Amino acid sequence: MGRVGLGVAAGCAAATCAIAAALVARRASARARWRRAVALLRDFEEGCATPPARLRQVVDAMVVEMHAGLASDGGSKLKMLLTFVDALPTGNEEGIYYAIDLGGTVFRVLRVEVGAGSVVTCRKVELPIPEELTKGTIEELFSFVAIALKDFVEKDGKDEQRVLGFTFSFPVRQTSVSSGSLIRWTKGFSIENAVGKDVAQCLNEALARSGLNIRVTALVNDTVGTLALGHYHDEDTVAAVIIGAGTNACYIERTDAIIKCQGLLTNSGGMVVNMEWGNFWSSHLPRTPYDISLDDETQNRNDQGFEKMISGIYLGEIARLVLHRMALESDVFGDTADNLSTPFTLSTPLLAAIREDDSPDLSEVRRILQEHLKIPDIPLKTRRLVVKVCDIVTRRAARLAAAGIVGILKKLGRDGSGVASSGRTRGQPRRTVVAIEGGMYQGYPVFREYLDEALVEIMGEEVAQTVALRVTQDGSGVGAALLAAVHSSNRQQGSI
Ligand code: BGC
Repeated sequence: MGRVGLGVAAGCAAATCAIAAALVARRASARARWRRAVALLRDFEEGCATPPARLRQVVDAMVVEMHAGLASDGGSKLKMLLTFVDALPTGNEEGIYYAIDLGGTVFRVLRVEVGAGSVVTCRKVELPIPEELTKGTIEELFSFVAIALKDFVEKDGKDEQRVLGFTFSFPVRQTSVSSGSLIRWTKGFSIENAVGKDVAQCLNEALARSGLNIRVTALVNDTVGTLALGHYHDEDTVAAVIIGAGTNACYIERTDAIIKCQGLLTNSGGMVVNMEWGNFWSSHLPRTPYDISLDDETQNRNDQGFEKMISGIYLGEIARLVLHRMALESDVFGDTADNLSTPFTLSTPLLAAIREDDSPDLSEVRRILQEHLKIPDIPLKTRRLVVKVCDIVTRRAARLAAAGIVGILKKLGRDGSGVASSGRTRGQPRRTVVAIEGGMYQGYPVFREYLDEALVEIMGEEVAQTVALRVTQDGSGVGAALLAAVHSSNRQQGSI
């Protein structure tokens, strides 16, 4: 080989080495980036960990806060609001009752006919609330509601005596079963001129403006409506939980345990308490930097901490925040970090669909990422990473909700620990029913499985068998109509 040949060969060898070195370097940096993504995932998983011991701490913290909220107004982030519902439907109710169910982006109007211990007919319409009405004035929102009710009621033609239950699913300080002022908005509503006002009175005024002869007989939270329907079907129902766009729970409390209202007398000796548990907070809750970022994005910063870890409005957003950080720090999503930067683009229904994709190549995950987040095809292992993020968010939410439920059971002495929080020892655990509603529990099987599993882990198999979570249908609305029946002038004796 001549000198030229040697030179060319040496040049080729050098170039090959350089290319190989570049390839090795690229692979090494790709591996490093992947490792970074996996490390972020591990950190997130650790931050969200809810082993049974931690869940029990959350249970105990819930009980402590329940006591504090019952002792004084402002004594706890748990408001433990009086509802003045001291009687629940028994099955003796008869007649036709109307209900309005307002508490999210869709509202419902219902006509419920009851008799002979059952709901004979239930007609309802569902209407989306135009987004601008959730940020305007209370007069505009309630005029819209009143007109919808008028159209609905007038279809019945006859001018029968009409009784209305009004489900208003936001924190309300009640002054009677049919009146109460809005404490503050949750779930993205922000109608400033409504805070502090009596919402039943505002609705009555809107109904009068629309020329409809009907007034609010019962103003109830959605959890209270759900409890009413649950109790109507099964007298062992002592509490109700909603896990949907927002989350909350209520339960039946002895009036003598409601210390902040000394001398409160009811015929039944009990009253339903609206816990507003979405605002529960404890240092035992597993909070990650992503939860803090989420909180910063919301209009109600530092409030609804429990809700922001559990309910439908927020779960997709937590997952998006994690994926965005991975995109920025690891490049596993290619050049698409920007597509993950817009808040609330990953909705909770999408998060659920990602988690529930059981196809071998995760084709549904691929489709969702492409169509909704504009992330072009990514390798299977990265799609698995996305599924895992959605799983962690779901699992933590479901397990914390389970801890909340056991908190209520423990307060009532029905968690099998043998001692009611009042200090009284109880015998064998009685059968206990908790009515439950909301898309997270009803429409997302993985969430439901995680929640049910955690109940068993916290209480043990034997006790968990005495506790039934019973899904009610339209309890928030139908239950409000039933409560209107119980509390109307043709009042029949309810029970608690
Ligand atoms: C509200 C509660 C309501 C719950 C479920 C929360 O954001 O504060 O009043 O019961 O959502 O709808």
